[in-house]
Amino acid sequence: MANPFKFGSVVSEDFFTDREKEFENAKNVLASRNHLVLISPRRYGKTSLINKVTSSLSRPVIYMDLQLATDVSDLATQLLKKFLSINKWESVKHFLANFRIVPTLELNPQTGGMEVSFAPSASNKLAPLEDVLNLIEKTDKKGNRPIVVLDEFQDIVYLDKNLPKQLRAIIQHHKNVNYIFLGSLESMMKAIFESKKSPFYHFGYLMALDKIPYSDFFDYLKNRFDKITNRSETISKEILELTEQHPYYTQQLAFYCFSFLEKERYKKDILPLVIKDIITIHSTDYERLWNTIRKTDKKILISLAMQGKLPTASFPQSTIYSGLARLIAHGYVVKGKNYEFDDPFFKNWIIMKRS
Ligand SMILES: Nc1ncnc2c1ncn2[C@@H]1O[C@H](COP(=O)(O)OP(=O)(O)OP(=O)(O)O)[C@@H](O)[C@H]1O
Ligand SMILES: [Mg+2]
Repeated sequence: MANPFKFGSVVSEDFFTDREKEFENAKNVLASRNHLVLISPRRYGKTSLINKVTSSLSRPVIYMDLQLATDVSDLATQLLKKFLSINKWESVKHFLANFRIVPTLELNPQTGGMEVSFAPSASNKLAPLEDVLNLIEKTDKKGNRPIVVLDEFQDIVYLDKNLPKQLRAIIQHHKNVNYIFLGSLESMMKAIFESKKSPFYHFGYLMALDKIPYSDFFDYLKNRFDKITNRSETISKEILELTEQHPYYTQQLAFYCFSFLEKERYKKDILPLVIKDIITIHSTDYERLWNTIRKTDKKILISLAMQGKLPTASFPQSTIYSGLARLIAHGYVVKGKNYEFDDPFFKNWIIMKRS
């Protein structure tokens, strides 16, 4: 039997649950002339949701993960390559001839695809990106408006610190394209879209993605565990108790529990066994990570893991809050109702090491 749980990459179809409201909301924004900004903590399902929304529309979609671009010219190159893959060459070639820096196109015999490159220009580094984005805006086919998805948008500042301002200057004139900006909460996303000083301040419809509601996730788990055990209710409850409905960690834990049940029957202490296995798989990562954390921040993590609260004794408040800010920026801690671990297995790794 194929394992019905999936973690780590984009999920769709049978692996995707809930998000109906968010799906409709995003679709409505895209039907309008507005841009969409989607923010959540890491691994809550931003990319999966947007992938589902854009696949449901028969509009041209150009998806770009900014983490994979090395500089501004490379961003232009990759966007153009994606644009060419969904457009007929005959209908766009005259536009390319008018680019300020005319791109070179070559057939890659290995992939069969087209390789694109721009000759470097010291005097106008922005021209290729500007020309590519304007080209996407211009080739709106009979009202079938293009969608440009910029994933991991917070990384824009690493391409060039002036790029946010320059990019806004280009796309604020676009009337046809809907832009979707995705990024994680811990990162610079809030600063980019919520800070009054930022060029992208209030630039689009801001949507926050939360965890998956309990009852939906419970049904999703239970239906799938039904195939392998008659204790599906108990195990689904136990999983959600540990992961608190975090989309990624829930799927991860469910995956390992399912694998376990393929080999053995349900027993009372199945969860600690599976958690131990997951921790063992990741222990070198956790050790490496632990060694990069400052002493005061380690104390905060230990207190959160062991007592479920912030340390009280011997710490000035200001030290604790600056530590928390760092831990949040790294994505180790998230602020929900309380401060909590992002990764329940990292938390359990600390507990295991200290017990
Ligand atoms: N709607 C969903 N239903 C069930 N599981 C989901 C859903 N959305 C996300 N997940 C789980 O979370 C994982 C991460 O999803 P995804 O990569 O879409 O999140 P993300 O927010 O884009 O992550 P990142 O911050 O790394 O970019 C998926 O592999 C899957 O296990
Ligand atoms: Mg993503």
